[in-house]
Amino acid sequence: MAIITFPKDFLWGASTAAYQVEGSNTGSAFWDWEKRKGWEPSGDAAGSWERFEEDVKCLKALHLNAYRFSVEWSRVQPSPDRFDEGALARYADWARRLKEEGIRPFVCLHHFSEPAWLLRQHPEGWLDDGVPARFLRFAERAVGALRETVSDWLTFNEPMVFIVGAYGMGQFPPGRRLLLRPKVLASVVRAVNGTHNEAYRLLHRMMPDCRVGFAQNVAALDPAGPGDDAVARDWDRFMHRDFIDAARDRMDFLGVNYYTRIFVHRSPLSFLPGRVVPGYAEFERGVGRLVFRLLGGRRGEGTPTDMGWEVHPEGLERVVTALWQDYGKPIIILENGIADASGIRREAFIRDHLAALAAAMKRGAEVQGYFHWSLVDNYEWGSYRPRFGLHTRARKAAAGAGFYAEVARTGAMEVDG
Ligand code: BGC
Repeated sequence: MAIITFPKDFLWGASTAAYQVEGSNTGSAFWDWEKRKGWEPSGDAAGSWERFEEDVKCLKALHLNAYRFSVEWSRVQPSPDRFDEGALARYADWARRLKEEGIRPFVCLHHFSEPAWLLRQHPEGWLDDGVPARFLRFAERAVGALRETVSDWLTFNEPMVFIVGAYGMGQFPPGRRLLLRPKVLASVVRAVNGTHNEAYRLLHRMMPDCRVGFAQNVAALDPAGPGDDAVARDWDRFMHRDFIDAARDRMDFLGVNYYTRIFVHRSPLSFLPGRVVPGYAEFERGVGRLVFRLLGGRRGEGTPTDMGWEVHPEGLERVVTALWQDYGKPIIILENGIADASGIRREAFIRDHLAALAAAMKRGAEVQGYFHWSLVDNYEWGSYRPRFGLHTRARKAAAGAGFYAEVARTGAMEVDG
């Protein structure tokens, strides 16, 4: 047995997103979107809008010193010309309550969900140059309401996942399918990138000492076969690096959401730009297993999680080491977790990922914290089947929660070897 020790001031956190936990976000564009075939409605979600005190109890039981949540744009600005002061005050109360309990709030301004009115007024979404100004106005109000207690901000959660989902594959509102029109898709990336940079400037004007970043979903990428190195690098640039590069002077930390490894392949039969075949479970589901195989797609190894994702902790060490070397910004893991309804795999998942993170830190990477996804089981964009929670929706501790609580309490854990 060996003991791994984390720094004293390490942030031990959990993350959630407003739409996935609050419930009844009827003003969001997702609310109508959920009525489509194959989607389960979110309904009350985890009820966090009313049950925040219970969420605080969960955080305390886990001995966490940080909590990441998001502000729901459609709640705060229910119509184009009206801000809801009551909703803003509630979020400010949450931040205050967290502070009282010694829990540092990290607040995200855009976690996929946008107001339905925004897309009614601007049906082209981020292709319309009126949208950035709308977002910045909302951001200004949200920051204004929370500035006394919140100094760590995220502009966008997983901007590339949002862009590919909402504008590339048509899975999220406004449901555009622009993957085959890479130039148009690139203009969405530029708009979101530019808005992040603007929001960064705005936040620093309003709060000179705050810290601003975004959370990038970064998978460990491997070539699916010989000859696929170049396509794996291209995909890394497209999904991860280009956005970070364009924001590198506008981020005080680099937020990383890490879940899995993806094998990347190039096939002349692929209809995606660059003839890429990315081995995401979601892509395989989209095109069907047979087509995926015919395209030469390769899925991960071992038993997949309930999301169909490979468990690959070594990838976290690799990703963090490379990002630290290339950007030199402090890294915070803002999401990492496993959909595991049985609960039996969660403890090992956390232990192995924390060990991988510690290995990257030993090699010199400055990592300031680890936030587990998620505090409670929640609405997984269309379904309640995947269970990512350290607690159930009834706020009962899930298997693995006790282990994480002990690591957070002691800042150390035992590993084999
Ligand atoms: C997103 C979350 C989501 C999680 C698990 C991340 O991509 O930020 O909203 O629930 O992954 O799929």
